[in-house]
Amino acid sequence: MVMLTDRVYLVTGGGGGIGAATGRVLADRGASVALADLDGDAAERVAAEIGPRAIGLHCDVTDADSVRAAVEATVARFGRLDGAVSNAGTVHLGTAWDLTPEDWEREMEVNVTGTFVTARQVGERLREAGGGAIVNVASNCGKVGYANMAAYNASKAAVISLTRSLAMEWAKDGINVNAVCPGGVDTPMLAKVADWLAPRVGADPDELLAGMGPAQLGRKVRPEEVAAVIAFLLSDDARIIRGQAINVDAGDTPY
Ligand SMILES: NC(=O)c1ccc[n+]([C@@H]2O[C@H](COP(=O)([O-])OP(=O)(O)OC[C@H]3O[C@@H](n4cnc5c(N)ncnc54)[C@H](O)[C@@H]3O)[C@@H](O)[C@H]2O)c1
Repeated sequence: MVMLTDRVYLVTGGGGGIGAATGRVLADRGASVALADLDGDAAERVAAEIGPRAIGLHCDVTDADSVRAAVEATVARFGRLDGAVSNAGTVHLGTAWDLTPEDWEREMEVNVTGTFVTARQVGERLREAGGGAIVNVASNCGKVGYANMAAYNASKAAVISLTRSLAMEWAKDGINVNAVCPGGVDTPMLAKVADWLAPRVGADPDELLAGMGPAQLGRKVRPEEVAAVIAFLLSDDARIIRGQAINVDAGDTPY
């Protein structure tokens, strides 16, 4: 098991789903974590379950001041920062015909601008400190164009591209940047997709959700399984993996 003893990480979207699981897994491996979420109460609840090596913070990743405040609160509490997991995200469901300019903007603001803002705020701190690692949570949707989520697909493709750009630019500062591309992970976001889709295909939402895991795995991916790969990418053992978008969808995406 990769250990991250005494390291400190900021996890955006840490109030639930993959972000909360990442907080738990990083803490299990010896790190301290700041869970930053639009839902600050949820982040505080997760942090309280983890214990003294976790804090929960309210944070809106679309707002640079809010992310800067989260970074400062993390350093104030734990004394250092070794990296971030840029996981906060949102999905808008609907056909491309129904997508309003506001829907499009919101998707880009949270998923793309939020990832960039987080990287910049954390990256500045890492550069001063001599290095670190950032993992962006993209999606297999950024590689595969699934129907009814055009803005989401485009936003996650942008996160993959941004990851490559930052990795190239920041390598000289000792900062490693990678992305993971999950799919079929058992979280509230996947349940939202099933709830939206079920009446449109005449299916029961629970049955549809139960079948949304990757075929080769035969079940949904557990958030902790994604978090384990994130932990590895944050570690020094991943130093020769740079600017990559690693599929964590149990074989659904072959490229
Ligand atoms: N569940 C999946 O199958 C799946 C697949 C591919 C990618 N992802 C990605 O994984 C990440 C986590 O998603 P999840 O499945 O755990 O969903 P989730 O909805 O459970 O978690 C997303 C979290 O992000 C937070 N958030 C939303 N907007 C925010 C903002 N502006 N600032 C701060 N926090 C904000 C939410 O409050 C929530 O806690 C997302 O980026 C998502 O796109 C999920």
